[in-house]
Amino acid sequence: MPVSQRFTHAVMVATVALTLVVGGGQAVFGQDSSESEQDKESEASIPFALPQSGPFNPADIEIKNDQSIADWFRSAHADAAADAFRHWDEEEEITAVCATCHSGEGFRDYHGLDGTVAGSVEGPISTGGVVDCGTCHNSGLADIEEIAFPSGLMHPVQGVEASCMTCHQGRTAGSNVESAIMGLELDTPNPELRFINPHYATAAATWLGGYGGSGYHYDGKTYSGRFFHARPVSSCVSCHEPHTLEVEFEPCLTCHQANEPADIRIARQSYDGSGDTAKGIRSDIQANAALLLDMIKSYASEVVEAPIVYDGTRYPYFFADANGDGLADQADGRPVAYNSWTPRGLRATYNWKLVTSDPGNYAHNPPYMLELLYDSIENLSAPLGRDMKDFGLLR
Ligand code: HEC
Ligand code: HEC
Ligand code: HEC
Ligand code: HEC
Ligand code: HEC
Repeated sequence: MPVSQRFTHAVMVATVALTLVVGGGQAVFGQDSSESEQDKESEASIPFALPQSGPFNPADIEIKNDQSIADWFRSAHADAAADAFRHWDEEEEITAVCATCHSGEGFRDYHGLDGTVAGSVEGPISTGGVVDCGTCHNSGLADIEEIAFPSGLMHPVQGVEASCMTCHQGRTAGSNVESAIMGLELDTPNPELRFINPHYATAAATWLGGYGGSGYHYDGKTYSGRFFHARPVSSCVSCHEPHTLEVEFEPCLTCHQANEPADIRIARQSYDGSGDTAKGIRSDIQANAALLLDMIKSYASEVVEAPIVYDGTRYPYFFADANGDGLADQADGRPVAYNSWTPRGLRATYNWKLVTSDPGNYAHNPPYMLELLYDSIENLSAPLGRDMKDFGLLR
């Protein structure tokens, strides 16, 4: 869509969705998704919806709404051209299981905010939707008391967090990996095994840690739970401006000394064996993730004798490389998905992907990330004959 058209669309979505009731600088959330196309057309020409009654200062309201729309419009949530919203264009309808998180309309359907049964998408959900105003500005959100996670956990929520927690929870749990590999020989490749992809932008899964159960948990290990952080930064929107989605760095400086979020560190010990405790904790997580990916590759070529390559731009990300030249094997003009997974390799790779699927992992839950990486590295080091002590890692 050309930019001008996208903007008209954005304003349309905004005005339709906000049956705005603003008073005393506070937004009260309302939405509507049941209007006919014709209503939408006529409302689209009204730039801002006005509140029903005062006291209010119309100028204030207009500016605030305007700012919110402009902020939202340049965020990923409004990016109607993104694959996250266009993936279903050819089918002309968003697959029900995907719609919950890939369109405001689907989200409302899933939670029963459109009058349908809660807990499932009845559909059909049309393509072309984004994370619109009515996803978060919805009086029905206040009645949602808990959100189901892929592990089966029902996590209690309040207010707008119901929205973030629904869509940023990922699509898998460690228990999915566990059932897939149950009863299989640890180091024997099994052509029936497929890569299990935790999905994307899995911030809420990271945040809930071991309690959320998103990672593969090794036997005999304990895992950190939810990252409580500190009271003023204990919810998604205490760090992320809800419209731009950006992290406001200023407030961090009340408690941290750093130039940017990536430089923040509290830990006094080095987790990655570098001994460098001046750098941000993010670097430790990244270093251990890089080591784990190296070990996944070594394990595939040395132990399984079926080399693997990773290509972050193509689903399912891991490909076969029989001749070990570092390039994916091709068949019918397409790369061949890796088909020699062993239980040991699959679970470590799953953890690696989960950790790296969340670019904010270091702020969302550093202990849980470090634990998953450490345990996965440790588990692969045994068949590779590597001594954990040589890496100097801490858990
Ligand atoms: C629990 C919520 C949720 C469900 C269910 C879900 N997704 Fe997603 N998906 C997301 C989020 C959040 C992102 C955004 C990642 C980003 O781009 O930052 C995403 C991103 C994507 C992308 C873009 C990936 C990229 O690299 O930019 C595709 C494609 C996608 N999902 C496909 C699907 C399909 C197909 C289904 C159904 C089979 C599905 N999703 C179900 C939450 C979900
Ligand atoms: C991802 C969720 C989300 C989406 C999407 C969203 N908002 Fe908001 N909005 C919020 C939250 C949360 C607040 C409360 C902010 C606070 O308490 O500081 C808010 C506050 C507001 C306010 C009050 C002023 C302010 O900035 O605090 C207005 C007006 C507003 N939103 C309008 C909109 C409009 C118009 C859209 C669509 C263009 C939109 N919002 C989309 C979450 C969202
Ligand atoms: C209906 C599902 C949905 C809801 C609700 C939702 N998000 Fe998102 N979010 C997405 C999708 C899909 C993307 C990726 C969009 C894209 O690729 O353009 C995304 C992107 C993001 C990004 C930016 C990722 C990037 O690539 O820049 C952040 C940060 C984010 N969301 C935070 C939040 C927060 C905080 C909330 C709650 C206030 C929230 N989201 C609510 C689905 C959702
Ligand atoms: C302590 C502050 C903090 C809290 C709380 C927090 N985040 Fe983040 N988040 C960050 C930082 C820092 C980043 C990485 C910097 C960035 O990408 O802007 C980030 C990154 C993200 C990203 C990836 C953005 C991208 O560029 O792809 C998403 C999505 C996200 N957060 C969603 C959430 C959700 C959903 C919640 C609540 C479950 C949440 N965050 C809670 C600080 C926080
Ligand atoms: C009120 C004080 C406070 C504020 C404000 C605050 N933090 Fe923190 N932060 C802490 C405390 C305390 C810890 C240690 C928590 C723990 O380990 O349980 C921490 C830990 C962290 C860590 C992990 C550091 C490590 O070495 O493990 C990161 C990253 C982080 N904060 C990022 C942020 C970001 C980004 C912001 C701003 C969006 C922020 N914090 C705002 C108090 C705060």
